[in-house]
Formats: sequence, C-alpha cells, structure tokens
Amino acid sequence: MFTPYSIGGSIPLRNRIVMQSITRNRCVEDNMPGEAVIQHYVERARDGVGLIVTEGTFIWLNGAQWLHTPVMFNESHAKSWRKVTDAVHKEGAKIFFQAWHPGRQQNENMPMLKESGYPVLAPSKIPATGGKYHDPPGIADHTVNITEIIDPQEIIEQFRNSVELAKQAGFDGIEILAQGGYLLQNFLHSCSNTRTDNYGGSAENRSRFLLQVVDAILSIWPPHTIGVKICPTDNIADMSIPYAEISSTYNYLIPQLVSRGLGFINLSRRGADVPPANGADFQMAESRPAGTELPVGYDPLVEFGPLVKFEGSKTALVVNHEVTVQEGERLIREGKVDLVGFGRPFIHNPDLVSRVKRGIPLALNDRGGKVYYGDGLKPEEGYNDWPVAVQA
Ligand SMILES: Cc1cc2nc3c(=O)[nH]c(=O)nc-3n(C[C@H](O)[C@H](O)[C@H](O)COP(=O)(O)O)c2cc1C
Repeated sequence: MFTPYSIGGSIPLRNRIVMQSITRNRCVEDNMPGEAVIQHYVERARDGVGLIVTEGTFIWLNGAQWLHTPVMFNESHAKSWRKVTDAVHKEGAKIFFQAWHPGRQQNENMPMLKESGYPVLAPSKIPATGGKYHDPPGIADHTVNITEIIDPQEIIEQFRNSVELAKQAGFDGIEILAQGGYLLQNFLHSCSNTRTDNYGGSAENRSRFLLQVVDAILSIWPPHTIGVKICPTDNIADMSIPYAEISSTYNYLIPQLVSRGLGFINLSRRGADVPPANGADFQMAESRPAGTELPVGYDPLVEFGPLVKFEGSKTALVVNHEVTVQEGERLIREGKVDLVGFGRPFIHNPDLVSRVKRGIPLALNDRGGKVYYGDGLKPEEGYNDWPVAVQA
C-alpha cells in the first residue's frame, strides 16, 4: 500500500490509500465547508493519505434527507471549496470532488426543494422504499411525488456546471457517484428505470445517461482526472437487481467507461457476501429480495476487475466496502487492484495511514451511529475529536 501510484500517469499519489467519500453533514454555513470541514480533511492529508474523495456534493438544489450537506452550483460554493483544496494540497495529498445527484432518494418537503419549488426528478415514477438513514422532522420517507425526467440534458448541464466550478475550486479531479440508489444508478438499474425511450430497456440504453454525463464532464476535465464509483451488487434503497442484469449491465458499462481512458473505476462490494470489517453499528445494506440472489460466493472483483485491469488499460481499479488493511495489501500485492478505499475507518482514525504504517490496529466506532451524520451535534463533535494512537 505504500508504493506510490500515478493515476493516468499524471496524478501522482504518495501511496495507494484512498479516503472514500463520506457524507458528514458538517457544512452548516449555507451548505459550504467551514473551518471544521477544512480541519477534518487537513488532518487526514497531514497524516499521509494518498487521495481524498470529498463527501458527496450536490450538483444542484436537492431534497435529500440530509441537511448541512455541501452543494456546488455557484461561485461562492467554489470559493469555499478552494480553501479545502489549497489546505489539502499543502499537506501533499490529492483531492477529488464527488459529484452527486440524489435522484429518487429525495423529498420535495426538504427545504431547498420546498423553497424553490424544484421537483424530485428520477428516470421513472417508482418511489424508493428503502435507504433511509434518518428522518428529518416531519419527513418520514423518500417522496412518492416523482417527476419523470423529460429532458436529461437539463441535468447533464447541471453536472457540467458543477464540475466546471470544481475546477475553479482547485480539485485534482472528479468522482461521479453512480451507486447508492441515487440518480445515475436509478437509470442503470431496471428496478428504478422502466422508460421506453432510449434511456431505458437494454443495458446500452440504461447506461446512456451516465455515459452522457461522463462525456459532458470530459468536455471540461481530461479523462484521467475522472473516476466513477459503481456498485453492481448494490442492495441499499431497494436497488437490488437480478444477477443476470448485474452481469449484462456492468459488462457493457465498464468497458464503455474504460474505453474513454478514465482515471479510475471505484468498485464498491456492498450487497455481495463480504464479511463485516469496519463496524456493525451502521446500516450498510439491506437484504436481497427473492429473485436478486447472487451466485454462492460471488465476488464482483473477480467478474469486473479484469474489465478494468488488463495490459494497456489506462484506468486504475479501486476497491472499497469492508476492506481490511490485510486484504487491501494482499489485493495490491496480487495485482488485483491498484488502490484501496477506506470509508468508515477514516471517520474514527484521523491517523489511519500512520496506524497502517506502524501495524497498529484501526479503531472502531465506539460512540454509536449518531456521530456519522452529526444529528444535533456541533460540527466538531464526533468529527474532529477522535484520538490518534500515538501522539506526534
Ligand atoms: C456516514 C457515511 C457516509 C457516506 N457517504 C457517502 C457519500 O457521500 N458518497 C459515497 O459515494 N459513499 C458514501 N458512503 C459510502 C462510503 O464511501 C464507502 O463506500 C462505504 O463506507 C464502504 O467502505 P468501508 O467499509 O470502508 O466503510 C458513506 C458511508 C458512510 C458510513
């Protein structure tokens, strides 16, 4: 894990450790990062992480269940993130911006949508029945009031605008969030996409929207600066699809992404049969409904890894979800992945990299699930107050 790696030969990382995107709801100042957020990223950069992917950041108005989540659609948002990127760069880490559209996992009564009258947009009018982490006052569910997207170009333009601002903000690249039950995955999976136009039906059609988003971003960012986070086996927010569809969809999509010379594919293993490693206190998956079972012992890395990692591929492979330090080291040694992603461990180990270097076990969360999304806490609480193993 401590051999350097260069994404696309031009984004040099000092090691193979990637801090995964983690929504923490600490952007209390008009959905922009303040001092607490800067400190959080800087501490992890100072400790030596190779690449940080920011918490999911909404590309436009949103009505997702989280307040105090960042947005990026105007210049003041870009200016606020510039302070984060400058500070992280001073500590020698690279930082990618995570572009997020929550799709059907929204509610029109959340403040930004309510005030603006902007609708909840998704490929089809199929409400999400799972995937809730908490209920903001008076808002129990994702909406049933979905407006089917008529003009995908409107949203593609929102992505383009947002990543252009991310460039001004000094990021090294973009990670596109295409998992977790959010908009891009809503298009990919037939359980949330029953369109009969050329955005629905075949794997090619269901992949079209994501590929058009990627192509719009490619008009602003070079290919190696773009990563896509996918989770073929996802089973959160009732996104499970039958194995045959997983296989046909992602065997089409991944080569399309790789053929564009993108920087990385970040493969999450959520929903596959991986032993819990990073704490059992947090709802990370839902059960797979009948008809969406996976083959016994199925490992998405075995099926999809070779589509990314082959002789001459320009695209790096990142794996995440319940990866342990030992497993990460083995996967890199065996040439199965290029980079290893840790999510929850970065929450409670500000010194994750130092611990790995010194062989010190990673701390688990001993404070309960409340700290994750910071409900009712001050921004610093459960965020910038985790102890390090060895004082400098
Ligand atoms: C509190 C919390 C917030 C998360 N927020 C995001 C997010 O904004 N974007 C995203 O792509 N994944 C998000 N994830 C998923 C993580 O990036 C990662 O894929 C997941 O935690 C599995 O990795 P781990 O086992 O190392 O924790 C979140 C996970 C947690 C626990």
